[in-house]
Amino acid sequence: MASARLRCQLFLFTVLLMAAVTSGAKLSRSYYSRTCPKLESVVRNKVNQLINADRGMAPGLLRLHFHDCFVRGCDGSVLLDSSSNSGEKDAPPNAGSLRGFAEVDAIKALVENTCPGVVSCADILALAARDAVVKVGGRYWSVPLGRKDGFVTSLVEANTSLPSPFMTFDELVQNFAAVGLNTKDMVILSGGHTIGQAHCAVVIPRLYNFNGVTGATDPSLDPTYADFLRTLCPSDQPLTFIGEMDATNGTFDNKYFKAVKSNKGLFTSDAALLTNSFGARIVNKAARNPQSFFSDFGNSMVKMGKIGVLTGSRGEVRRVCSAVNSF
Ligand code: HEM
Repeated sequence: MASARLRCQLFLFTVLLMAAVTSGAKLSRSYYSRTCPKLESVVRNKVNQLINADRGMAPGLLRLHFHDCFVRGCDGSVLLDSSSNSGEKDAPPNAGSLRGFAEVDAIKALVENTCPGVVSCADILALAARDAVVKVGGRYWSVPLGRKDGFVTSLVEANTSLPSPFMTFDELVQNFAAVGLNTKDMVILSGGHTIGQAHCAVVIPRLYNFNGVTGATDPSLDPTYADFLRTLCPSDQPLTFIGEMDATNGTFDNKYFKAVKSNKGLFTSDAALLTNSFGARIVNKAARNPQSFFSDFGNSMVKMGKIGVLTGSRGEVRRVCSAVNSF
């Protein structure tokens, strides 16, 4: 009888422990309160300075954290330079479009001056993404900390794990579910496209060759917006930039959802949010109510920031973000 109770307790303990590990519950908002009390102000001041110098750093830093978390978890793997194997930086979804690497190195150098050997690059990415959003108009959320940095970066895994702008609603749902995020997280986090730029390559098929038909335009795209995009993106200029994905001058607001609602989502994956009734409901609510979008965005970012984190003795605190420590 006693041993059955013991077994039952042991089972419960194991279940709770597993739940804690998989939910990233080891992260804590006060993780560095003794070892690096000035961390948050050091990162925030530097992020503000970087964005004052180049507003494009706000979307750059936000996207870096997202692309870090979706490949091998939030472990700073996106920041590693390729070595003998090709790394995430060189994967097509990242190469030539992810920005902010040198700036993250600069933030890390300042943090190392303040508290040497204590703060991981993965945590710096999570803080910098939050501070970037706040700097350009978004709302603050507090960031759980205590991630360690990983040792591996993989081009192949970046190619298979990151969502593609050509995905349908169901494909996006599956892609996010694979890292433990639900449909609402997917729709809300797509709101990150309220800031930043994109290459014409991503929309050229929608404008000139829809479904493989030469000359056809995606009928779900607002015709006036399609005309405007054709002036920005001639069919032979895939490398030209569309300066603002939601045309609101780099402010973090809910206008992305207003754009999607009025068939002016830039990518197939943006337009796809309207093709499902649950997705459309979330889009409509976020378009109507900026405060609810801000609060949902913070909650989903916290969830995203817990994907596959390394904690405790797993991983290391890198000295520089672009390379693993050599001992
Ligand atoms: C839902 C699936 C998503 C897809 C398919 C997607 C795809 C893309 C693509 C293709 C670009 C343009 C890259 C270029 O051409 O230069 C881009 C830019 C961007 N994405 Fe996403 N994305 C997704 C979700 C997210 C999420 C979850 C976030 C953040 C929470 C995010 C934040 C950004 C930002 C800020 C930019 C602009 C980057 C810059 O200006 O440097 N995206 N995304």
